[in-house]
Amino acid sequence: MTPSHGKYGLRGRAAIVTGATRGIGRAVARALADAGAHVCVSARDPDDVRRTAAELDGVGLAGSVVDPGHAEELTGLCLREFGRLDVLVNNAATNRPYGPLMDADPALWREAFAVNVEAPLRLVQCAWRGWMREHGGTVVNICTEGAAHTGPGVGAYGTSKAALLHLTQQLAGELGPGVRVNSVSPGLVRTEMARFVWEPGERETAAGLPLARIGEPEDVARAVLWLASDAAEWITGADLLVDGGTRVRRARVPP
Ligand SMILES: NC(=O)c1ccc[n+]([C@@H]2O[C@H](COP(=O)([O-])OP(=O)(O)OC[C@H]3O[C@@H](n4cnc5c(N)ncnc54)[C@H](OP(=O)(O)O)[C@@H]3O)[C@@H](O)[C@H]2O)c1
Repeated sequence: MTPSHGKYGLRGRAAIVTGATRGIGRAVARALADAGAHVCVSARDPDDVRRTAAELDGVGLAGSVVDPGHAEELTGLCLREFGRLDVLVNNAATNRPYGPLMDADPALWREAFAVNVEAPLRLVQCAWRGWMREHGGTVVNICTEGAAHTGPGVGAYGTSKAALLHLTQQLAGELGPGVRVNSVSPGLVRTEMARFVWEPGERETAAGLPLARIGEPEDVARAVLWLASDAAEWITGADLLVDGGTRVRRARVPP
C-alpha cells in the first residue's frame, strides 16, 4: 500500500478491525492505516495485539469477540483515543466445529454462531449507539465465498457465514442512509485459518482458478478498503466476491 491511498477519503477517520493480528484482518488494518485512518485492533493474544497496534501506530485491545464486554470496551477505546468511529470491519471468525453435522457438539455449534454472527451484531450495535447513529459510518463484514454452497466438514462455518451474509443485508436496510453495511466474501486465501486447505493442494487449486492463483490477504484488504471508502458511497447491502474466479471455475479450459 502506498500513501496514494489518501484518495480514499479515509484520512483522519477511525476504524476498528477485529481479528487484526494476522491474515486478512491484519492486511485490512494495514491498508486502512496506510490510507490515513487511525486503527483500533483486537484479537485474543495480548502480545500480538500490542505488537500490531504499535506497528500500525494505532491502539489495541486483547479479548475475544464473544465476550459481551469486549464490544463495548473496544468501541469505547476507539472513541476515547480517536474521538470517532467511522469504519467497523468484522473480521474475526472461527471455522470450528469442523466435521459432519451429525457429530456436531451443540456447545461448539453455538460458539460458531456466537463468534461469526452474534459478535458482529453486537459490535455494530455498540458502534451505532456510540457514534454511527449520529455521525454515520460504514461496516464491512468478512463472509466467505463458501457460504453460497455446501462442502464436506464445513457445515457450522458455512451456515453461520450464510447468516452473517443475511445479517449484512438486514442491517444495510435498517441503518441507511447514514450507515452503509456491506460484506466481502473471500475465496481461498493464504492464511493460518485456511492452511489445512491450501498447503496440501495449492497448485491444484490454483490451476483450476481463472486467475490461476490462490488469494493473498492483501487481495481482500484492497476490496475492504474500497468498500469502506467514500468511493463506494452508493453501495450498501452488497457482497463483494474476492475469489480469483472460484464461482466461475467450471468454465475454465485447462491450459
Ligand atoms: N483464509 C481464507 O481462505 C478465508 C476464506 C474465506 C473467508 N475467510 C474469512 O476471513 C476472516 C479472517 O480469516 P483469516 O483466514 O485471516 O484467519 P486467521 O489468519 O486465522 O486470523 C484470524 C484472526 O482473528 C483473531 N481471532 C480469532 N478468533 C477470535 C475471537 N474469538 N475474538 C477475537 N479475535 C479472534 C486471531 O487472533 P487470536 O487467535 O489471537 O484471537 C487472528 O488475528 C474470517 O472471517 C474468515 O472466516 C477466510
